[in-house]
Amino acid sequence: MAENFSEWLEELKSKVDIAEIISPYVSLQAKGSKKWACCPFHHEKTPSFCLYEQSQTYHCFGCGVGGDAITFVQEIEHTDFMGAVKIIADKYRVPIPDFSRNDKGAEIKKHKDKLFEMMRDTANYFHQNLKADAGRPAREYLAKRGISMQTATIFGMGYSLGRNQLIAYLASKGYSKENMQEAGLVDMTLSGGVVDTMAGRLIVPIINNIKQVVAFGGRVLDDSKPKYKNTRDTVLFNKSREIFGQHSIKRLKLETAVRELVVVEGYMDVISLFQSGVKNAVASMGTSLTQDQAKLIKRYVDKVVICYDGDSAGQNATMRGLDILYNHGLDVRVVSLPDNLDPDEYVRKYGKDSYLKMLIEAKPLFEHKLSMLAKSYDLKSPQEKGKYAVEAMKIIKPLGDPAMIEAYIGYVAKLTGLPSDTLRRQLDVSEAVVTVIKQETSKISMSAFDRAVRYVLFGLFGGVEGVKCDKDLSQYLTDKNQRNLYDLYRSKCATQENTLEELTSQEEDNPEVKAILDEGSKIGDETALKYFDDCVAKIIKEGEKKRKRELTKAIDSEKDEEAKLIMMSQLAQSNNKK
Ligand code: UTP
Ligand code: MN
Repeated sequence: MAENFSEWLEELKSKVDIAEIISPYVSLQAKGSKKWACCPFHHEKTPSFCLYEQSQTYHCFGCGVGGDAITFVQEIEHTDFMGAVKIIADKYRVPIPDFSRNDKGAEIKKHKDKLFEMMRDTANYFHQNLKADAGRPAREYLAKRGISMQTATIFGMGYSLGRNQLIAYLASKGYSKENMQEAGLVDMTLSGGVVDTMAGRLIVPIINNIKQVVAFGGRVLDDSKPKYKNTRDTVLFNKSREIFGQHSIKRLKLETAVRELVVVEGYMDVISLFQSGVKNAVASMGTSLTQDQAKLIKRYVDKVVICYDGDSAGQNATMRGLDILYNHGLDVRVVSLPDNLDPDEYVRKYGKDSYLKMLIEAKPLFEHKLSMLAKSYDLKSPQEKGKYAVEAMKIIKPLGDPAMIEAYIGYVAKLTGLPSDTLRRQLDVSEAVVTVIKQETSKISMSAFDRAVRYVLFGLFGGVEGVKCDKDLSQYLTDKNQRNLYDLYRSKCATQENTLEELTSQEEDNPEVKAILDEGSKIGDETALKYFDDCVAKIIKEGEKKRKRELTKAIDSEKDEEAKLIMMSQLAQSNNKK
């Protein structure tokens, strides 16, 4: 019996035969003493992927990948180390013991597994409804949208018959109301009962990268509002960390070389594109992509084509998301579909080939930015042209790479008719802080809010002369480490002038302090001072916005009238603040 995790892992490894792990994914051929296959990680026609049974490892002479059974599963299933260990342990029916010395971890895991099981039962139940007699309205709706039952089945789509059926079904399978509530499947009624959140809706399950059903999207069958309801964030689901359509992408990657993903907005876009033969689409479930989603996407591909609905392609939230993808090293391209069509409408109207042509013609991110920017200027007027050029150079500058900058100067020159030399001169004088900050941090990719916090902390801790902040920012800082540092500064330094240096040296081992000082030293004291007030203002503005969003959300879901009133007055107060 293994004493600890690494002993247990060795035992597991001794049971594993790498050929058994790899063979479901590729077709292995024995040649001499070794086994060969076409590499599943790059596209090839003749095998250069070699299996070494003696050392239980693999190596591809074509693309250079290599490793053991665990790294193979990690790569092919797009999961992390523990995810791969779990898949292998499941395959060999070896339970993973809990070595954490307390039973709590094991208990939590068991509980979560039960909730996952309930989600799967729910998905199956909804799917059966869709196929049953009572599912006719949903089937008719799908037919109206041109979605076949085959496609619906591939995506595990379903139908919720009403407010109570799912609950009765889950109860009959032994799940409690608390379970249902915890997984976000039900809403509370005033009388203390529960009803199916998705009642009467067409269901799209959201499935994560290890095939667990984590949430549902539910669409009304008519034009009533809200059009979609999504499972709220739960212990199983965090909307900002998932992308919709992953499991079909994974399957596709096993069949063929997938080099790029198409990122769309809606569930129905992914499903409709899939049916038309464009199988590499995923939906971000919101236009502002997050760091976690970018990381996830980077696990699959190096290139993305963004294909959002016409009205959202130019919005700030969209642009922020695209910058995040770019900062994660992805080649980002953008398609703008004509006539405000969404991908589903476009592909149904013009067909797959026409859509693929749009993808091929997608603009590189920075070209998209420049052309979006141009929409707000009348480029026939010399004055507006000049203004556009100033803003355009601010977009180009953070690219850093001289050849790329030259290429885009050419683009702007063509668009405006201004000489390239003039634009180059403009580039030298557009020293806006955004540019400086973007340049310095483009590799680390932080949100603008985080950046503002770090610069403020640098101003305070770095002892930048002339910096003064008499507003209390503590309430707006969501990162605990940053908040602690800020509070420390307030409690110790704000009142006694000379302790600042001492504090900085005391706290120098703190990685966050190091990061702040490193960041700050790149821009220098003068810039830090110049933009200190702007950054403070940004933190307050963003913080207030966030608070309002959270309050509004809480008010919406609060059933207790008194609590609701209190929150509404808080919201009103918050609205009065400038
Ligand atoms: P869209 O309105 O573009 O979705 O919203 P869609 O897929 O094109 O919708 P239909 O079925 O064709 O009319 C894009 C995404 O935004 C989220 C959903 O994830 C949706 O797929 N959304 C939209 C909501 O969460 N709630 C809503 O009320 C609307
Ligand atoms: Mn649509």
